Formats: sequence, C-alpha cells, structure tokens
Amino acid sequence: MSTLLVIQAHPHTSSSLSLTVGQKFVEAYQAAHPQDKVIIRDLYAKGGVPPLNDVTMEAWRKQKFGEAMTDEEKALLKRHEEWLTEFINADKYVFINPMYNHFLPAEMKQYLDLTAVARKTFRYTSEGPVGLLNGKKALHIQASGSEYHQGGKWGIVKFLIRRAFGIKSKESSALMDLGDLYLTNVMKFYGITDVEKLFIEGADAHKDKRDEILSKACDDAVSMAKVF
Ligand SMILES: Cc1cc2nc3c(=O)[nH]c(=O)nc-3n(C[C@H](O)[C@H](O)[C@H](O)COP(=O)(O)O)c2cc1C
Repeated sequence: MSTLLVIQAHPHTSSSLSLTVGQKFVEAYQAAHPQDKVIIRDLYAKGGVPPLNDVTMEAWRKQKFGEAMTDEEKALLKRHEEWLTEFINADKYVFINPMYNHFLPAEMKQYLDLTAVARKTFRYTSEGPVGLLNGKKALHIQASGSEYHQGGKWGIVKFLIRRAFGIKSKESSALMDLGDLYLTNVMKFYGITDVEKLFIEGADAHKDKRDEILSKACDDAVSMAKVF
C-alpha cells in the first residue's frame, strides 16, 4: 500500500481549472489504486501552513540550546513536526496550484519551506547536499492563464534569443514558469527526480477554448492517474 499526498494551494474560487483537474486525478487514482491511502492537504484551510516566523525561529533556538519554550512555541513546533512527518511518510505527491505572477501561490512556497529540513529531507555531505527521499515520485498540476510549455526546448531557445536581442513578443516560455522550475528543483534537492507535469494552460488567453483545454487536461489526468 502506498500513500498519495495531495498538496493543494488554491483559494477555492469558483470554476477552478486546477482544482477540477486535480479532483479528476484523485478520483481516477483511487479507482485504479483502491488499496492506497490518499491524504488531501489543503494549504488554504483554516489554520494555514505552519509559518517560518519569529516564533518558529525562537523555538528552534531554544530547542537547540535546551531552553524552556512557551506554550505558543511548543504548539507551533508540534505543527511543524506533524506536517513534516506527513510529507516524509508519503510515497507519492501531487502538487496542485494556479500560477500567480509567474510563480506558486505564497502558501505553496511556505509549505515547501517547512519541508526543507536537513537530516529529514536532505543532508549535507562533503560532496554537497544529497536528497533523502529517493525513489518517490511527484506530479505538478498547474493552471495558468497563458501558455508557457507549448514550444518545448525550441520555445526556450527562441525565448533566450529574443531576450538577448531585446525582441518583444507575446510568446512566453517555460523559463517564465518559475513556480514549476522551483518546485522541480526542490524535489530534485530531496532526491525526487521523477516529477511529472500536467499544465492546464491558456484558458484566459483563449477564452473560446476553455472547455476544450479543460476537457483535454481531465482526460490526461485520468490517463496519468492510472499509472502513477
Ligand atoms: C493574482 C493572479 C496572478 C496571476 N498571474 C498569472 C501569471 O503570471 N501568468 C499567467 O499565465 N496567468 C496568471 N494568472 C491567471 C491564472 O493562473 C489562471 O486564471 C488560472 O486558470 C487560475 O487557476 P484556477 O483556474 O485553478 O483558479 C493569475 C491570476 C491571478 C488571480
């Protein structure tokens, strides 16, 4: 039995493409893997993601030097540990989010921050940091108003040439999807190199194609879920 952890960073606006496709994926996954456990971690739920703030920093300092903590510090560290343990114990991850300003919603960044803990998800060695979550896999489901991944490798090359020569264009590039680049790199840092992508792109730029884009992404989600 495997555990699938679904990490969802979305403010629950109506008719969300990423949530619709994410839900399709989860339903198809459960049908194809009835023995597996599925956990939904909604980062916009009440209580929010445990923060990295002054209380956390002070609690870590006190923990390091064996000093007594306040109840607030103890409670916050406990939440950090619970969320981190849930992440480490999962076998597969699905990250679901809308693109916000070429990046992930802040809640997703905050979540990734709490998973980046030395000796838990990675460790330092004399040859540099190595990941500790080898063999696990992840899927990134992301909706964006424009298209970033249509041009493949040539799209990136064309983008770099345009940028070098200051040529203006409406075309975007995978290099402008900083959220996916970041997430993929964080996973790699943890030793997770199998990171699949399901991008739901261009529904704002081509409003007449919204249904078509959603329908294709839902079909892709079902196909991917069966073999994930
Ligand atoms: C605050 C905000 C920032 C956004 N930034 C971008 C962006 O940088 N690039 C883009 O293509 N779309 C951007 N969008 C559009 C959304 O990514 C797009 O509407 C997407 O479908 C939202 O996901 P959802 O359908 O799951 O709600 C932005 C939307 C909002 C509300």
